Amino acid sequence: MDIATFCRQSRVLVIAGKGGVGKTTITAALARMAARAGLDVLVVELEGKPGVSAAFGATEPLAYTDSTLTAGSGPLGIVRDDGSGPRGAGQPEAVAEGTVHARRITPDDALLEYLAEHGMGRISKRLVSSGALDVVSTAIPGIRDILVLGKIKQLEREADVDLILVDAPATGHAMTFLSSARGLLDAARSGPVRAQAQDVVELLADPERCQVALVTLPEEMPVNEVIEAAYQLEDRVGLTLGPVIVNGCLSDDPRLSEDPAAAAAAVAVTLSTEQIGALAAAASFRASRYALQVAQRRRLADELPLRQLEAPIVFSDTIGPREIERIAESLADAIENIGAEPAPTVS
Ligand SMILES: Nc1ncnc2c1ncn2[C@@H]1O[C@H](COP(=O)(O)OP(=O)(O)OP(=O)(O)O)[C@@H](O)[C@H]1O
Ligand SMILES: [Mg+2]
Repeated sequence: MDIATFCRQSRVLVIAGKGGVGKTTITAALARMAARAGLDVLVVELEGKPGVSAAFGATEPLAYTDSTLTAGSGPLGIVRDDGSGPRGAGQPEAVAEGTVHARRITPDDALLEYLAEHGMGRISKRLVSSGALDVVSTAIPGIRDILVLGKIKQLEREADVDLILVDAPATGHAMTFLSSARGLLDAARSGPVRAQAQDVVELLADPERCQVALVTLPEEMPVNEVIEAAYQLEDRVGLTLGPVIVNGCLSDDPRLSEDPAAAAAAVAVTLSTEQIGALAAAASFRASRYALQVAQRRRLADELPLRQLEAPIVFSDTIGPREIERIAESLADAIENIGAEPAPTVS
């Protein structure tokens, strides 16, 4: 499948999954991939962590207002003049890169803005700084979430971008976050809260406007959790699920089954017994990790009829623009292969 077509399947894509599986990293890589395909992207961050900025090499924290992480440039070097090339088949011209924007959305900022837009700007700052929102949110569960989702809904309608990527909180909180609108709809019979909740429920239920991509690692616990989360999001929240992104994947390397002593001898290197032992142990560890990955991905495929996109593990202390670029390229390759393989069938 063409990358731009993939990215245009829904206007908002929520990236969700268990804590620490790589939601932020994958959000950044998808943003980079979409921008390379010519789309303007907005990344929405909710927790005030520095991951999104760092992934693009920025040091400034994100703000409620729009920041530009990468300015569109182009054309990209991936399409030759005659329109041929790895991604150029049938493409008459090179694609100009899109721009990646980002913002951090907090309930307090969203409330301040809402009040200001409804003629209460003067008292709004005092209300928020006095902790009034805390009182309100204790009285009305879900109000903080609906403020954030209401802002995302407004951006979905108004922002001048092709794709909005939401770096969601970890699964437990994400489930509460995404089901808050339905809860409020049941609780509020009328008024602005109900109207907002109604709009958010409509957004989440429309697959052309919003879908969720779940991220997992190819390990037992994260796979269990992603299966459970997938059914809950579909059944309880009424969301449409896009592909599952299996992050941190190892590649299959047949050299790992070679005898280290023989492999060293073949290139005229002599190893000590200790070195041979260490290499054999490392190879065996990696082979067992790879076998685990294959088994867990198979189990995931058996239990969840969703397409899997593989993102590689990158061996680096920090994740910056270079690492994001690598992951973005792998995701792009996986997406371009969609269609070449049969789609998973829903049982
Ligand atoms: N493909 C990868 N290769 C190597 N390291 C990775 C990869 N993906 C994520 N990491 C590292 O794993 C850690 C967790 O990643 P990340 O912050 O993206 O996860 P998260 O799901 O957003 O976490 P949280 O739930 O805390 O928000 C980070 O240190 C990140 O650099
Ligand atoms: Mg994160």
